[in-house]
Amino acid sequence: MSNIKIITGDALVELAEIEPASIDLVIADPPYNLGKDYGNNHDIQGFGDYLEFSRNWLRQAHRILKASGTLYVFMGFRFISYLYDILDRELEMFFNSWIVWHYTQGMGKTRGFSPRHDDILMFTKSKEFKFNLDEVRVPQKYYRDRNNMRGANPGDVWKFSHVHYCNGNRQNHPTQKPEGLIERMILASSNENDLVVDPFSGSGTTLRVCQQLNRRAIGVELNPDYVAMSNKRLAAPFLGFDSVDPRMERVPMDLRRSDVRMKYLENHKKWFLHHHENAVTKFEESVTSLYGYTDKNSSEQKTLFEEFENCESDKKVKTTRRLA
Ligand SMILES: C[S@@+](CC[C@H](N)C(=O)[O-])C[C@H]1O[C@@H](n2cnc3c(N)ncnc32)[C@H](O)[C@@H]1O
Repeated sequence: MSNIKIITGDALVELAEIEPASIDLVIADPPYNLGKDYGNNHDIQGFGDYLEFSRNWLRQAHRILKASGTLYVFMGFRFISYLYDILDRELEMFFNSWIVWHYTQGMGKTRGFSPRHDDILMFTKSKEFKFNLDEVRVPQKYYRDRNNMRGANPGDVWKFSHVHYCNGNRQNHPTQKPEGLIERMILASSNENDLVVDPFSGSGTTLRVCQQLNRRAIGVELNPDYVAMSNKRLAAPFLGFDSVDPRMERVPMDLRRSDVRMKYLENHKKWFLHHHENAVTKFEESVTSLYGYTDKNSSEQKTLFEEFENCESDKKVKTTRRLA
């Protein structure tokens, strides 16, 4: 059986078929009830009906999650507070993060502020949940002895541009999400071979990312044309994810010592640009413009991270000696 399965159907019906407590991660990007054209009339419901629809699928998502499982839900401003309330008070899930997906382009307003973000709620089923911080760190802005050069926590404001029409991975779907955004959720909250569910899989973004990160996945999508689109996307050659957090391409400033710089640059690609081969050129250009050359000829084997760990343990020994 393929590790990625797509079911053409209604999320409410299909989620009910899944074994209880069998899923590691749910990533849900439901229709926001804004009247988008998904080839059906499902995105225009009355307020109460939409809330009831949300309550029902959230109950199912909660039921299928393992105790160690995590749920990410995308939502627009109109309903997010109601969804928060259902997750917090009705389902008694554990709030973890309110993530802001910040994008640079969008609808313009003349009376009020043009919206430039979507919200994503992250709740866990219990206090014992997976969180792989090292998998999602972002490069430091400056080289400093006190900084962990393996990277910083990405925070809860995630900047990714939409997948524009000029992007080779752009699908004919009105609300396709950037792969880099979904990649972060999957890396942080699941391990290889874990099982991920996307109840509203649309153009197949979550499924494509799971395929490339060796996760098993089940997607549910009402519109058969989008299911066909997803299957085509899964069969296409992989050229790197279609979007990247711009911080991943940045080169820390003040990497003055050339030996440290060489080692750092070698690790940077491995740590931050894995699955983003398409971003390496831009990174190398930044290195050249900042430091005048790239790391292509580096022959050093010892990693900067090891060097930091050695420095840190030296510091600890010295402190212990001073205290003794
Ligand atoms: C916001 S889009 C998801 C986009 C997706 N994350 C992507 O990157 O392509 C929501 C999707 O849910 C589908 N949908 C709407 N109601 C549904 C339901 N009851 N069950 C399953 N899918 C549904 C829509 O057809 C649409 O493709």
